[in-house]
Amino acid sequence: MLPDFVATQVELTPYNTLALPARAAFLARIQRVEQLIALIQHTEFAGRRRFVLGSGSNLLVAGDFDGFILHLCIPGKRWIGEDAEHIYLAVAAGENWSDFVAWTLDCGWPGLENLIGIPGTAGAAPIQNIGAYGAEVGDFLQQLTALDLARGETRIFDVRDCALGYRDSLFKREGWHLSGRYAITEIVLRLPKNWHARTRYGEIAETLARDGIQTPTPAQIAQVVTRLRACKIPDPRQLPNAGSFFQNPKVSAELAAALRHTHPQLPCYPQPDGSVKLAAAWLIEHAGWKGRNLGMVGMHEKQALVLVNRGGASYHDVQNLSRAVREAVFARFGVSLTPEPVLLADGGTPL
Ligand code: EPU
Repeated sequence: MLPDFVATQVELTPYNTLALPARAAFLARIQRVEQLIALIQHTEFAGRRRFVLGSGSNLLVAGDFDGFILHLCIPGKRWIGEDAEHIYLAVAAGENWSDFVAWTLDCGWPGLENLIGIPGTAGAAPIQNIGAYGAEVGDFLQQLTALDLARGETRIFDVRDCALGYRDSLFKREGWHLSGRYAITEIVLRLPKNWHARTRYGEIAETLARDGIQTPTPAQIAQVVTRLRACKIPDPRQLPNAGSFFQNPKVSAELAAALRHTHPQLPCYPQPDGSVKLAAAWLIEHAGWKGRNLGMVGMHEKQALVLVNRGGASYHDVQNLSRAVREAVFARFGVSLTPEPVLLADGGTPL
């Protein structure tokens, strides 16, 4: 018999913020690491596909899933120590990231304020190295603890082992986020005591200047970020979405220069490796897709990078729109866009 924290034939619509319909054969609600260890020893578990789920805010559900969804809901956040330069905090995988950030600010431990409002769980944060408004979780990650679901062993990954990049990590590069090889159970963050405001991101600087704030407090930065996000990114409870649907593409300096020549307004962000990151939202907008719908989905009218479910959309609708947008951007600018959300597919056709 399966443990009582495992449900069968579960409708997945409430488990993905794009609200796409599908069913999972099994869904385990994991609140303690011991439950995970017990489950992976269970005979029903062996040989079945598994997928580790946080809050489904960066997830594209492609169809029914014939395996185990491991819904990591492990709670807990705590101060674990400090030295002359840093404060160390441990946060369990199931904690809501943004609530955790708010808690750190309430406790008087600033640093994460630029990352407030990002949906998702703490355990999912390092997998795509969540980032916004000039900061990334990788700027603060010290280490993480993961359970190797194949061997039943706990493994500590130092941040240097995680190979974090722009929306990227070792976990993504190795495909472990799709194969369910590891479940991240806890992350440890290191917040510098010598706090400085990160206000270089254009919109933050502009908003603070408009509000007449010269030396912002962490709380003021959090408020500005919260306001900026609310203006552009729809609340999935009102309009289902998975945040940015495409990554900002990195192109060669030559291509960026050629594009800038014909489109002087194109936002370009030179990278340390000599490549240039382009604003996918701008490319989509100027390829004519901002605020435009196809089937039951569309690219949002306030932020062209956000694909929204207008109601009752299927994966097929998402696939069609994704293709249409990619083709339009490629035809106009010669740039390929890569979808950002993780695909949960059971032999389904990827985008
Ligand atoms: N822009 C447009 N049209 C639009 C929206 C934006 O031309 O419809 C232009 C803006 O004027 C700006 C540029 O595109 O010059 C960048 O826009 P924005 O600052 O809104 O950021 P983004 O690059 O579109 C990224 C992240 C977001 C994050 C914001 C803020 C990615 C894929 N997305 O978006 O992260 O919140 O920066 O830092 O890197 C997410 O990953 O899900 C996400 C929402």
